[in-house]
Amino acid sequence: MRIGLIGGSAFPKDWNSWAGFERAPDLDVSAASLGDSELGEPSADLLGVHCGDSEVLYLARHGAEHHLLPSEINYRANLRLLADARVEAIVATHTVGGIDASIPVGGLVLPRQVIDYTWGRADTYAGNGEVTHIEFDHPFHPGLIDTLAKVAGERSLNITVGGVYGTTQGPRFESPAEIDRYERDGATLVGMTAMPEAALAAELGVPYVSVSLVVNAAAGRGVIELDAIHQAGRDGMAQIQALLQGLLQQRELFLQ
Ligand code: HPA
Repeated sequence: MRIGLIGGSAFPKDWNSWAGFERAPDLDVSAASLGDSELGEPSADLLGVHCGDSEVLYLARHGAEHHLLPSEINYRANLRLLADARVEAIVATHTVGGIDASIPVGGLVLPRQVIDYTWGRADTYAGNGEVTHIEFDHPFHPGLIDTLAKVAGERSLNITVGGVYGTTQGPRFESPAEIDRYERDGATLVGMTAMPEAALAAELGVPYVSVSLVVNAAAGRGVIELDAIHQAGRDGMAQIQALLQGLLQQRELFLQ
């Protein structure tokens, strides 16, 4: 199988340091392969990685040098690059703050729903004279969620299945009053990058799932301390590695 993986700065630069994964430069896809597309530049080249018989095309969402703010990311180019590379599914990892007190810091969440509080991001391929609408009942692919939940269970990972990802503009964290409002709306976690990623994947027809790592309690629910947040991001990578490895060992992704 071939999956796209979108991730942040905590992913290895040297993939061979991840047991079970091996860097495969022959699979790389250059960002320039979008050619003179009007979409502009993706965040980075896709890096090829082997895991057993499976292929992973890894995209550093914030750029290879981690230089793009959540609102500066060219989501449309990123998703098109992955779709053109014929990935069967996209696993997008996100670091998030936990709003629901039952979601522990350090744990993983597979949200089922999303609320978009972002503004000004290029969030559709439609327009320019083309009027299209997509159905968005399932922003995160239910079959992929089930598969990941099963893998997490087999590996005794700390995972919460379900939840509502409130997507904020960033780059600042929220005020406690904003978090109270998002909680009233039904959000159980908050992050800055699930939208418009999920919507663009839906437009392209590529199954998409979020693996959200809770790195802090949201504002007003705990102390926001940047060093601790970065440490929690690094600490959570072992769980994400185990989950991905289990996923890539599956014979099928239950994508129906
Ligand atoms: N808010 C928004 N984005 C985040 C947070 C948060 O508390 N933690 C990690 N990403």
